[in-house]
Amino acid sequence: MSKKIENASLVLDVDSKISKVDERIYGSFIEHLGRAVYGGLYEPGHPTADEEGFRGDVIELVKELRVSIVRYPGGNFVSGYRWEDGVGPVEQRRKRLDLAWRTLEPNIFGTNEFVSWCKKANTRPMMAVNLGTRGIQEALDLLEYCNHPGGSYLSDLRISHGVKEPHNIKVWCLGNEMDGPWQIGHKTAQEYGRLAAETGKAMKMFDPTLELVSCGSSSPGMPTFPAWERETLEHTYDVADYISLHQYFNNNDDDTPNFLASTLKLNQFIETVSSVCNYVKAKKRGKKDIYISFDEWNVWFHSTKSDNEKMANEPWSIAPPLLEDIYTLEDALVVGSILITFLQHADRVKMACLAQLVNVIAPIFTETGGGICRQTIYYPYLHASVYGRGISLHTIEESPKYDSKDFTDVPYMQTAAVWNEEKEELTIFALNRSLDTALNLSCTLKGFEGYKPFESITLAGPDLKAVNTVREPDNVKPVSTALPAVDNGMFSAILEPASWNVIRLKKENR
Ligand code: AHR
Repeated sequence: MSKKIENASLVLDVDSKISKVDERIYGSFIEHLGRAVYGGLYEPGHPTADEEGFRGDVIELVKELRVSIVRYPGGNFVSGYRWEDGVGPVEQRRKRLDLAWRTLEPNIFGTNEFVSWCKKANTRPMMAVNLGTRGIQEALDLLEYCNHPGGSYLSDLRISHGVKEPHNIKVWCLGNEMDGPWQIGHKTAQEYGRLAAETGKAMKMFDPTLELVSCGSSSPGMPTFPAWERETLEHTYDVADYISLHQYFNNNDDDTPNFLASTLKLNQFIETVSSVCNYVKAKKRGKKDIYISFDEWNVWFHSTKSDNEKMANEPWSIAPPLLEDIYTLEDALVVGSILITFLQHADRVKMACLAQLVNVIAPIFTETGGGICRQTIYYPYLHASVYGRGISLHTIEESPKYDSKDFTDVPYMQTAAVWNEEKEELTIFALNRSLDTALNLSCTLKGFEGYKPFESITLAGPDLKAVNTVREPDNVKPVSTALPAVDNGMFSAILEPASWNVIRLKKENR
């Protein structure tokens, strides 16, 4: 049977730039939740563990992903967390109930262990403070403990804990999802806005160069969206540098065309919040822009039902497996689409954290005491992180479209392009959402004389529900495909149905 093929086109112009890509859009997230920390980052006794108990196999993959920044320690967890429980001699640390996930937190791993892990994994910390059960003073205490060189009570306490140099953590989140009724210490926009503004003000009295993130909406489906952004930002505008957005995608209805189209909502979310940021800037007669830190995003639904039962029926154990979604090929396509959407908004989205990093809705999966594997979603993130650094270009696209249950005029093709001027490389990321039609892509390059394709990669396959496991780690894996030939500033490439594609070009210097 012959395959259906339709035409699509793309025009890229070196002079049509969106913005430099902030490498912090390739961030991730570690929460004290399930086996993210214990059994993920930290597992003394594991064959690959180092002297601090950090799993070496995990660190290797995090390095391979080039994760630029990691948000910590939550998430819902942070809204009940006492940071003091996680520092000092390990044998004296208190076990605490974590009400957010109904588990027992041993506090063996805390702030200093996290920062040390970040150094080993070639990444940087993004620290969240508890504005659920706690407030200004505890945030300032943690800041002094982490960032003051010495000579004050809390900086000397850090030194007495064996950490001589200050951590110099630059990016701080003012709480987590404070708009959510599930959050410990949930607040109205007015309550949160005031608290975040005063906390941020005091933190910047300590160090005006800190970068602060004010909580936005936990999803565009929240009843308080987008009034929450407007009202909170009117309080926090002077101290905040970013507004934090979160969004998770699901295929609960097992409707793949609709699932692949659902990232259009992300586009709308970012554009609406950008407008609110502009509105508040104008209202304040302000000079600075507020940028977006999209510090939780992913596909999340596979584990939800069993987790709810586990938390209800088997509470208060240490690091039980929770939120362990095993990702399919179609989930990876949605992750690719999300990354393309961030690149298309590189002028506003300056940080983004794939939630999360290990075991908990994560690209990396470990067996406690055993092996490790790259989940399907690992690959689009890897490609974007490694090849998507440079300047994001406007893409002028023509593509056939489709309608799904909730969306109309969904383009089959979605693209982003990043030009790395220093390396003289151009990378095109292209998704084909169609399940049965290949796209014959004609790409016109303007101002890229001498650029030639040198690598073409595709992630696709006959089974959209295929997954990777520790036993079968390579079920879903990118493959190299035939290089398109450039002729007179144009090339053609076939985008297979339901595929994620990366086409890399480099200037040939003769
Ligand atoms: O990432 C899992 C959870 O999702 C986080 O703890 C919370 O912030 C969000 O609701």
